Amino acid sequence: MTASTLLGLGCALLVIYCGAAGAVEKPITEICLTCMCEALSGCNATAVCVNGACGIFRITWDQWVDSGRLTVEGDSPMSDTAFTNCANDPICGADTLQSYMVRYGQDCNGDQQEDCFDYGAIHYMGPFNCQADMPYTYESIFKKCLKRQQQQWKQQI
Ligand SMILES: *[C@@H]1O[C@H](CO)[C@@H](O)[C@H](O)[C@H]1NC(C)=O
Repeated sequence: MTASTLLGLGCALLVIYCGAAGAVEKPITEICLTCMCEALSGCNATAVCVNGACGIFRITWDQWVDSGRLTVEGDSPMSDTAFTNCANDPICGADTLQSYMVRYGQDCNGDQQEDCFDYGAIHYMGPFNCQADMPYTYESIFKKCLKRQQQQWKQQI
């Protein structure tokens, strides 16, 4: 288990403490982030935007703004390149998704829990359409990856 996973679990249990300590709430597990990038971009780290969606997580400008305009170190949130610089940085991109799910996380598929399947749907289809079926290719790569990762790490997602 990585340090950030531990921090994430700790914060889930101690949200108030972590909030007070200035730590960021991170609902998405490392495994889930790995499988999201695999399904979205093959985790291809070449800095690129496809139809306005940038980086390994294919983050859009709207998502970035909704998540609080996080930036890589040294960038101003209002600069012209802040969005692409963040989305094309794996850490800033991942933190953007974390912040997005703190805001929009919900149980999309009605299984009474909010988990990686929901986050995958929210990111791809939007928070207000996440009950819809995922596109076949995305869903197929995403679910195969989650199964493989869970078997490898024997961990919850
Ligand atoms: C990664 O993406 C770039 C830009 O789209 C592409 O040229 C390159 O072939 C890709 N690499 C792999 C390993 O798919």
